[in-house]
This record gives sequence, C-alpha cells and structure tokens, in this order.
Amino acid sequence: MPAQQSFRSQSAPSAELSKLAPLTPAYDSILELTPYQTGKPVEELTREYGVFDVVKLASNENPMGCSPHVTLAITEQLGQLSRYPDGNGYYLKQALADFNNISAKCITLGNGSDDLLDILTRSFVSSDDTIVYSQYAFVIYSMLANMQGASSIEVPAQRFGHDLLAMRKAVEDNPSTKMVFIANPNNPTGTLLEHQELREFVASLLPSVLVVLDEAYIEYSPESNNRALLDEFDNVVIVRTFSKAYGLAGLRIGYALSSPPVAELLNRIRQPFNVSRLGLAAATAALADQDYIEQTRVSNQEQMRWLEKQFDALGLAFIKSHANFIMVEIEEAVKVYQALLEQGVIVRPLKGYGLDNWLRITVGLAEDNLRLIDTLHSILSDD
Ligand SMILES: Cc1ncc(COP(=O)(O)O)c(C=O)c1O
Repeated sequence: MPAQQSFRSQSAPSAELSKLAPLTPAYDSILELTPYQTGKPVEELTREYGVFDVVKLASNENPMGCSPHVTLAITEQLGQLSRYPDGNGYYLKQALADFNNISAKCITLGNGSDDLLDILTRSFVSSDDTIVYSQYAFVIYSMLANMQGASSIEVPAQRFGHDLLAMRKAVEDNPSTKMVFIANPNNPTGTLLEHQELREFVASLLPSVLVVLDEAYIEYSPESNNRALLDEFDNVVIVRTFSKAYGLAGLRIGYALSSPPVAELLNRIRQPFNVSRLGLAAATAALADQDYIEQTRVSNQEQMRWLEKQFDALGLAFIKSHANFIMVEIEEAVKVYQALLEQGVIVRPLKGYGLDNWLRITVGLAEDNLRLIDTLHSILSDD
C-alpha cells in the first residue's frame, strides 16, 4: 500500500459547529478534528454504571503510583501556592541536564509531553507544510497536523511498527515535509525500533526536516538509547514525560531535549508558566528516585510475562510490547470492551486506529491483571 494523505481523526461537523458561521476557524481542517478520546475516567464509570470497584487499565499510567519522595516535595510547596512557579524551571532543568548528560540549554519543559508536541508543531509547521508519521502511531500526531492546517502523510506500518524505509521515501517524495513523528516505543502497538535503523533514517533526511522522537515509554525499554542522536544531528528532538513510569500523569509534566537553537525557539512559543510549581517539585523528586523506576520496570516485566501467558491460554494473539501496555486481538473488541466496562474494568478500544479487533491493555498490579483475566475469561466463555 502506498503512503497516503490522511486526516485520521475526521468527523462530520457537529450540530453545534454547524452554527459557528459567520465565524470561521483558522483552517478548514479544524472542522475535521475529533476531540482526543481519553481513557474513561474511573469517576465516569462509577457515575454511568454504578460500579465502585473499578480497575483502570486504559491510559498507561503507573499502577504503583509515584515515588514516595514526591509527596514530601509537594508538601513543601503548599505554603507557596500564591506564588508563580519558576518560569524557567531552573532546578528541574539542572537535574535533567545531569541525568541526560546534556546542557540545560538543550531542555524545554512542557505541561505534559502533549504540550511539547503542540509547541513543536506550532514552532515549525505552517499550513503549507507536511507532517509524516506511521499508520498506528500515536493519534495526536495527525490531530496536530489538522490543527495547523498542514497536510499529513500516514505511512503504512510494517508488522504493526514503523516502516522507516517507506517513511524515508514518503519524505523524499514530498518536499514540503517539515516534520516526522516517531513514537519509540510506539503507542498503541508497543513496537520498538533499533538504534542503528533510526540513526540511518535520520542520516538519510535533509537537515531541514525535524525528526521528533516521542519517548513517552522509554523507561520501560532502557536498552534503547537514542540520546546519542542529539550529539550528531541538530534536526532531532527527543520528547519524554513524567506521566508514565514516573507516575505523575495528574500533574502534567514533560520535557524535550534538542539542540540549543531549537530549544530557544520552543521557549519563545511556550506559555511562560507552562509547568506548575507542584509539577516542578514533583518531577525533580521523582527523577532523583531511580530505584523507584527500577522497581516499576521489574514489576511491569513480571506482570507483562504473566499476562502474555494468560493470553496464550485464552488463545488470544498479542503483539510483543516494549512498553507498559499490550495490544491483544479479540473478535468484536468493542463489544468485549463494553462488557468489561460493565464489570468495572476499563481498557482501550482501538477502532479509531482502524484496529477494530484489538484492545490495548495497560499492565496493572498483580490483582488488577487477575481481575482483568478472570473477567475476560467469563465474557469470552459466555459467547
Ligand atoms: C506516545 C505518547 N506520547 C505522548 C503522550 C502524552 O503524554 P503526556 O502529555 O501525559 O506527557 C502519550 C500519552 O498517552 C503517549 O502515549
């Protein structure tokens, strides 16, 4: 299948939007956006179904929570809530610079990594430009293209992962390409690219094409180290988050590593106080507790192996994952998703990605996973 122009999150204009005229959005493509579907919040399930004992395996959060050091760091800030945070995030940037062996000048902080993906797109992509990404890549990339009125090219995946040769060809064939998004590991498929493959891909592109490497789940694949790309190429940006392994999704904090001039540009576009006082303190404390990240990794590995065995026993195919979630093939996945919801287990249907027969399941604690498997077993044997 050739690469194709794509507006993945297309939707018909809603009744409300049809009343927008005579006002018009900045770009027609904004009318085609569907708001991002988040994992169903626990409180919503309780409200809708009256289920109280809910297990949420839908948003790839850390089921263990966050480092205990975070609580103390936040508590210390509580007397200062009337004061703005440090808009430059000095201490967190210093800690990230040491951790990543990079200058603090190369770091931009964000209100979650979504904020950084948005800042990057707004900084570099105009309506005349094109964004390239893979089929089954994180859905936000296509939405960002639509928000800027830019074109997007979705390159068919290869065995559910990025086909870098085809992506390279798509960039070469489309001189208006300004940015390439690559999630590594990828969400929702959990696939991982080899460093050498990625290096060759970046080396093959013109230096005017920015490669954004989204490493939201990198802590679960410590063997994958692409930080060295930043020493070699000025057109690479690595985006990471404290929302996943660090367990701080509720505080919204992420960071980008780039060349100093790219960071300088991003800093002009970002909101002056885009990371809160609590976010800065929490992330600094969480980063210092690498033992906690190691425990997180070990627990995730053990539970991932256990889940794989259970899926094998249930006769369900899955894609080997390098992150903290796993994609499982289930016939009539949306029905199964609904049946799981009614029994208090929230997972993620993937119809929006064209993966109608798949569910994405976040690896939980042992008891969460047991509940998932028991519930799934009873749903599938009722059929
Ligand atoms: C691949 C990927 N990138 C970025 C994000 C955004 O995360 P956050 O904004 O919480 O940092 C997510 C969240 O699910 C993700 O899966």
